[in-house]
Amino acid sequence: MFNRWAYLDFAGVAPIPQIAVDAATLALEAQALDAIVSVDDTEAAIEELREDVARFVGATAEEIAFVRNTTEGLGWVANGLGLGAGDRVVVAGDDFPSAVLPWTNLAARGVDVDVVARRGPGVVLDDLVAAVGGGKPPALVALTWVHYATGWRTDLGEIVRACHERGSLVCADVIQGVGVMPLDLHATGVDFAAADGHKWLCSVEGQGFLYVRHSVLDRLQVLEPGWNSVVQRGQWEDLAWTPDPGARRLEGGTPTRVALAALLASLHLLASTGSERIWDRVRDLTNRVVAGVHDAGMNLLTARDPAHASGIVTFSHPRMRAEDLGALLRSRGVVVAAPRGGGVRVSPHFVCNEDDVDALLEALPR
Ligand SMILES: Cc1ncc(COP(=O)(O)O)c(C=O)c1O
Repeated sequence: MFNRWAYLDFAGVAPIPQIAVDAATLALEAQALDAIVSVDDTEAAIEELREDVARFVGATAEEIAFVRNTTEGLGWVANGLGLGAGDRVVVAGDDFPSAVLPWTNLAARGVDVDVVARRGPGVVLDDLVAAVGGGKPPALVALTWVHYATGWRTDLGEIVRACHERGSLVCADVIQGVGVMPLDLHATGVDFAAADGHKWLCSVEGQGFLYVRHSVLDRLQVLEPGWNSVVQRGQWEDLAWTPDPGARRLEGGTPTRVALAALLASLHLLASTGSERIWDRVRDLTNRVVAGVHDAGMNLLTARDPAHASGIVTFSHPRMRAEDLGALLRSRGVVVAAPRGGGVRVSPHFVCNEDDVDALLEALPR
């Protein structure tokens, strides 16, 4: 239980753990007291965070750039590949706007954009593979790892294998999975992945990361070059374009140190708990939700095939509108998201417990 709530909306915005609040507060105080003097000290902490993020997602530090949010990361990829007339992109549709619009927007530059429709709770892998195989090989295929509304998880490794066979790059929005399920980006082979910290990573809003597989980094133009993009950062009179060898070259300007401090603390909490343990716990809690809402006569909208399961369970009430049910639950102390995917979305993290789930089940009108 979080303060007064049975809080079950980690797919929305996570409550921030106290250690992250403390870390951010310390960073703020350091700037208040020492300003530039404290800035030099935090450089090492930022690079430690880059290492930690990389370790957490199965990457190397050189493959991680810090971004303001998922949308910025996806935009750097969509706009940095130099795509134009004659290029084709395939996008998994019926998904969160930020996972679709950066790609459909490329049509204005003459890119041929094929949107693959969702069948049921998620885009079916066979449909995506068929779209990749039909017509000109796409320059890139874009999708989400986990669907924001239904929780449908796509096997990233499988889609990457099919795409790489055709020479197509793959960009994944991983915000609805990273932090709750183990993720090994190198093992998936995905070329680009982006997420923000404010959901399953349990950190503040407006601080995320972009992963760029090392071998494709040079294919990405640096859209916003600045002092932080170059090897000789801090040598203010050297204006040569000598890009940082890693994805840090994409960052350009001053990082948000306060937000990075929070993310570092939250990530330590998650990493020390362990991704497998977190996922085991969340699987138990979501199974309890599934069984309970089924017994209460709700309609389950989430696929329960383990291959597609995630931390999200969505259901609808047989007679009540989702927004009304969401408001009623909120008035009874239970936080969920509604409407989502035609129902109410429940997304517990490992810090939730059975009492939170039972509070939801007891609050459901029959
Ligand atoms: C799939 C997906 N992508 C992106 C976002 C958020 O994007 P950003 O981090 O740019 O705010 C959300 C938030 O709900 C999401 O569910």
